[in-house]
Amino acid sequence: ATNRTFTMIKPDAVANGHIGAILNDITSAGFKIIALKYTRLSEELAGKFYEIHKERPFYKDLVDFMSSGPIVAAILEKDNAVEDFRKLIGATDPTKAEPGTIRNKYAKSIDANAVHGSDSDDNALIEGNFFFNASERF
Ligand code: CMP
Repeated sequence: ATNRTFTMIKPDAVANGHIGAILNDITSAGFKIIALKYTRLSEELAGKFYEIHKERPFYKDLVDFMSSGPIVAAILEKDNAVEDFRKLIGATDPTKAEPGTIRNKYAKSIDANAVHGSDSDDNALIEGNFFFNASERF
């Protein structure tokens, strides 16, 4: 298992001014930032990033939403990173996210759910590679 995960602060949380608070929650929980980028996904790139969800009913809304404004992408490092990060952010549906989790504090809906977190070590690697090359990691 690797000790890295990948995250995005989604367009809703960026638009609502939560970049600083969310990065503070992440680093306060013991995650080290390995790579960090403020960027915007085109519809095409958002479609590629979420290709594994292509057949799901929410795919188009997801792609539209994720390309609707700037995001923050990051690679994070910590022991047990993937699992611990998913605990920190809480359930995908913010109405089910535990109090104190990032989605409980900052998310509005299942689409506008403030942050992404990789669901496996394999996907963490794939997703990190989607945004960052070797010279952008420290
Ligand atoms: P994320 O972890 O970024 O990966 C896929 C996203 O699809 C998910 O967060 C949600 O924001 C969004 N989504 C919308 N509807 C659903 C659903 N029914 N189940 C899972 N994810 C959903």
